[in-house]
Amino acid sequence: MSIEPPRWPVCTSASLRDGDWLKRRIDFEGRPEECLVLRFDGRIHAYINRCVHMPRALDCEQDVIFDRSGRFLRCSMHGIVYAPETGTSLSVMCEGERLCRVRVDEADGLVCFADHRVSIPQGMA
Ligand code: FES
Repeated sequence: MSIEPPRWPVCTSASLRDGDWLKRRIDFEGRPEECLVLRFDGRIHAYINRCVHMPRALDCEQDVIFDRSGRFLRCSMHGIVYAPETGTSLSVMCEGERLCRVRVDEADGLVCFADHRVSIPQGMA
């Protein structure tokens, strides 16, 4: 028997349109982390905001996470690009390495974290 993970609301579905993204502070496996939540091609994806190349946030140099085409995630530090659907590096640098995915779901007009590894820091729930 599998136990459903707790659902932690992130935002309303309507507030996260295609190409939109936001950041949330979470506890992930007991550590404080920043999580990116984004919508791409209609689907919601979430990743810990840490590049596979170096421990830097994707938006550490610029306040963006998508490249100019809007088809790829891009780290603003050295330019690694990622597939938004999988978090896989498509660049020669770190090719095939993946951002750490956080499970999310969307139902009844709400986007929620739905991952056993996630909890919300005290005072933010
Ligand atoms: S730290 Fe992200 S590409 Fe180098």
